[in-house]
Parts: sequence; structure tokens; C-alpha cells
Amino acid sequence: MILRDQTDADRDAVRAVVTAAYRGLPIASGTEPAIMDALWASGGAIVALVAEDFSGLVGQAAFSAVQIFGPGFRINGNGTNGGWVALGPLSVRPDRQRAGVGTALIQEGFSRLKARGAAGCLVVGDPAYYGRHGFRRPAGLHVPGVPDRYVLAVPFRGSPPPAGTVEYHEAFSAT
Ligand SMILES: CC(C)(COP(=O)(O)OP(=O)(O)OC[C@H]1O[C@@H](n2cnc3c(N)ncnc32)[C@H](O)[C@@H]1OP(=O)(O)O)[C@@H](O)C(=O)NCCC(=O)NCCS
Repeated sequence: MILRDQTDADRDAVRAVVTAAYRGLPIASGTEPAIMDALWASGGAIVALVAEDFSGLVGQAAFSAVQIFGPGFRINGNGTNGGWVALGPLSVRPDRQRAGVGTALIQEGFSRLKARGAAGCLVVGDPAYYGRHGFRRPAGLHVPGVPDRYVLAVPFRGSPPPAGTVEYHEAFSAT
């Protein structure tokens, strides 16, 4: 398996992987393929990786900048130089799940984000899975419409994210 940057030529294959991975999941909104399309089309993904093997594209991970705001402050990060980044969508083709593809995509993404100076990574997801990758529940951080227990963060530079409200890239409103 190889990991590489997503390109324009991957768009349909990425959409197929995202669609297959999220299909029928209780946590899925059904909008994940549209979100991935919108992120790609808008250039909103700071890092977009794909995993590929002899059978074609088997996984993808996208990372985009988030804004965090609270009383008296707003971090208008672009994901570099101290900004926070969110992971998602993250998908592995169902027939290749539980073989380390998701782990490899997350680790490669982290190393690229660290090289760009990101403060850390957030995710909305299952603590049982993301806890394995260092994600923890940060005090006082909220994503509108999401139960707090699913809002997780891993700092790259030691400091947790500030208590506040997270605003995702506008592509996450895609339907
Ligand atoms: C979640 C996902 C990306 C993980 O990718 P993966 O390649 O299957 O994961 P890995 O092989 O790196 O890790 C697998 C390990 O994580 C565990 N795991 C996978 N999903 C899990 C979950 N939801 N909760 C707890 N553990 C989970 C597996 O049991 C496995 O553990 P083991 O090695 O002890 O057997 C993939 O299963 C997927 O695409 N799921 C559907 C879409 C999705 O849920 N995306 C994330 C939304 S936030």
C-alpha cells in the first residue's frame, strides 16, 4: 500500500470510498461525500491523502483548518503556524478496514501537519477509535450540534485547544 496526496484524478474514486465507508453508519449524516467534494473543490483541505493498493483506492483522509472562538478571542487559523486543523472525512473501503489503513493515514497526516506548524488536530468521532491516536476530550471545546463526548483533540505542541466553539470550513455545510 502507498500513501500519497490526493489529486484531481482521484475525485471519483475518493467519492466512492467515502460513500461506501459511511453508508449505513449510525454516526453518518449522509453528506460526507458531498463534504469531501466541496472541500476538494474549494481547496479547503490543507492535507488530503489517499491510500492505494493493487485494487485501487482503499482510503482517504482530509484535514482542514478550523476557527475557534470564545468570549473575547477568535483564532482565525489557516492550519499552519499555530492554527488548529480538523480531521474528516476519514474513510477506508469496507473490504480493507481493520488492516491499519486508517492508522497509516492519520499518522501520515499528523506528520505533514506538524511540519506545517499546526497546533494540533481536532476530530468529531468515536473516542474508542480516536483515543488510540492520542485524541482526548479537551475541556470546554464545543462543536455546535455535536455531543461534547465526540469532540476530541490531539495537541502537537503541548497546549490543548482553548475552551471555545469550533467553526468548521464552510464545505462541511454541503449537502
Ligand atoms: C474508522 C475507520 C476510518 C478506521 O480505519 P481502519 O483502517 O479500519 O482502522 P485501523 O485498521 O487503522 O484500526 C483498526 C483498529 O481500530 C478499531 N476500530 C475501528 N473502528 C472502530 C470504532 N468505531 N471504535 C473502536 N475501535 C474501532 C478496530 O477494532 C481495530 O482494532 P484492532 O487492530 O485491535 O482489531 C474505518 O473503519 C472507516 O472508514 N469506517 C467508516 C467511516 C468512519 O467511521 N469514519 C470515521 C468517522 S469520524
